[in-house]
Amino acid sequence: MCGIVGYVGRQEARALLLAGLEKLEYRGYDSAGISVLDGDRIDAVRAVGNLSALRHALNHNGHRAGGSGAAADRPETGIGHTRWATHGRVTECNAHPHFDTTDRVHIVVNGIVENYLALKEQLLAEGAVFTSETDAEVIAHLVARHNQGDLVAAVRRAYAELRGHYAFVAMSADSPGLLVGARKDCPLIIGRGEREQFIASAIPAFLRETRRVQYIDNDEIVVVRPDGVQFLTAGGEPLEREVVEIDWDAETAEKQGYETFMLKEIYEQADAVAETIGERAARDDGIDLVDLGAIDDELLATLRRIVIVACGTSYHAGLIGRYAIEEWSRVPVEVEVASEYRYRNPVVGPGDLVIGISQSGETADTLAAMRTARERGAKVLAVSNVVGSQATREADGVLYTRAGLEIGVAATKTFVAQVAVMYLLALRLAEVRGALDARAMRTAIAELKHLPHQIDLMLERGTAELERIAGENYDRDFYLYLGRHVGLPVALEGALKLKEISYIATDAYAAGEMKHGPIALLDESTPVVVVATDSPVLEKVISNIQEVKARGARVIAVATEGNAEIAKHCDEVIAVPPTQWLLAPLLAVIPLQLLAYYVARKRGLNVDQPRNLAKTVTVE
Ligand code: AGP
Repeated sequence: MCGIVGYVGRQEARALLLAGLEKLEYRGYDSAGISVLDGDRIDAVRAVGNLSALRHALNHNGHRAGGSGAAADRPETGIGHTRWATHGRVTECNAHPHFDTTDRVHIVVNGIVENYLALKEQLLAEGAVFTSETDAEVIAHLVARHNQGDLVAAVRRAYAELRGHYAFVAMSADSPGLLVGARKDCPLIIGRGEREQFIASAIPAFLRETRRVQYIDNDEIVVVRPDGVQFLTAGGEPLEREVVEIDWDAETAEKQGYETFMLKEIYEQADAVAETIGERAARDDGIDLVDLGAIDDELLATLRRIVIVACGTSYHAGLIGRYAIEEWSRVPVEVEVASEYRYRNPVVGPGDLVIGISQSGETADTLAAMRTARERGAKVLAVSNVVGSQATREADGVLYTRAGLEIGVAATKTFVAQVAVMYLLALRLAEVRGALDARAMRTAIAELKHLPHQIDLMLERGTAELERIAGENYDRDFYLYLGRHVGLPVALEGALKLKEISYIATDAYAAGEMKHGPIALLDESTPVVVVATDSPVLEKVISNIQEVKARGARVIAVATEGNAEIAKHCDEVIAVPPTQWLLAPLLAVIPLQLLAYYVARKRGLNVDQPRNLAKTVTVE
């Protein structure tokens, strides 16, 4: 939530900050702003709306697309922010950067300052003049209050007074060429250049300029100057921090001819699954997960239970993982919504493996749930798409998805990669515990490896049929999604995709539960999307389809190619290639992503940046 970027160096700051904010817009997009040191003062421009509004405001104020121009002795210094409102309405005054009463200290913040009201009262009593309704503004006043010519010391003192979870970057008109950042539970990353440095909430903000990064940990202060970066503990002790070279390329952060990032990412799903499986399934008779760290074979062989914690789409991947792990390895699995798990005094401890699934590796609730489990003695495994993200640094072991950078707010390729990781882990557990016979293991691995090809085949067929179905149903007020067994998480995910990008109300239910309530919602205008791929429960699903048809609703089924029976009961059938029934979710979800996509496009909506949503939810 919210994107921060900062720059010190010789290039024109405004252009770099704007380019960085463009790449961070997925984190928040209700307003944006930039502050750049200009002579001996800081010049701030803010605007409500997306970045084109900020660009317009910059032009209107007579700013070049570039910056103020670095003088020989004065490097360019600037910070930028794209906002996802938490405290305070979406207004220009509430947009960042915020500044202190004297306008000498400017800050950008991501996260929430929980004790801001108490701090604000003190600061008001001391004469500070507040200009926004935000919690973030207190940081500017607090840093200014402590700033006696040493911005680093001022940030350290301010940091000590703050409660909550946040990351911020401060600059001062009196300290050219200096940015000071601090973080607590929200991401902040350094991008290292040659005599120029970047600081940002996420790597894409500076990926065009550098792939050399340094991760800032919790309770650390970072001092950023053109010629170097210094890491300090909150107490001021210096720290060593390695520079990591990341392998994302800048092109990934472009649309490459697709009309949206979401569509591009849907089309990248075969690669995401293939990369994620990769050499881990090189053997025909087993799985190798060399990167599991402290979670060794002995632990896999002896653990008594797995608990999966995650949010949103990642939670749905966990649900699919439960079916695969229980079926193949016979290890009992619970799947929990992280925001609930963290507050319910869970019974967890030694002998349990807790898996936190998080695309970003920064979701506040998932991190908190993982910490709770670890504190109680469980081993914790992180499944994440972002190398070096917070979840991966706090876990005992890591399994990376290799989907590449995902920009669209609605998760697509990272979801299928997460599901692939769940299959790999399930098969590895089965192997280590001797729970699956050799033939079943070989078949599962062969079919798993065949999935990327099948995804490609599906996408190559084109999307005309789905576009037609979307065109006929885009104006409905409500969709019901049904599935059973492994089809249920697919239904949940399909429903989430539709609601988040098209703003149509959806419900997703276990098909067998429909007659216990949701059936009352059905009438002739209701599209009912049913996941009806071949499985041992398909007959039951067909019975549920008949119950739906008897109420006059319209059934859109996702079924296995060649199943002639389904077509007799449904209005529309979208076929997916045949595979082992446990693996079918990886194929069945794709038409549901596309259906959601074309419904939203037909409604004229911005699918990459749906209203009210943020890609990474770093607040609870
Ligand atoms: C997915 O389309 C959503 N945008 C959202 O539910 C997301 O999956 C959730 O916020 C979890 O994010 P994470 O995987 O980064 O933890």
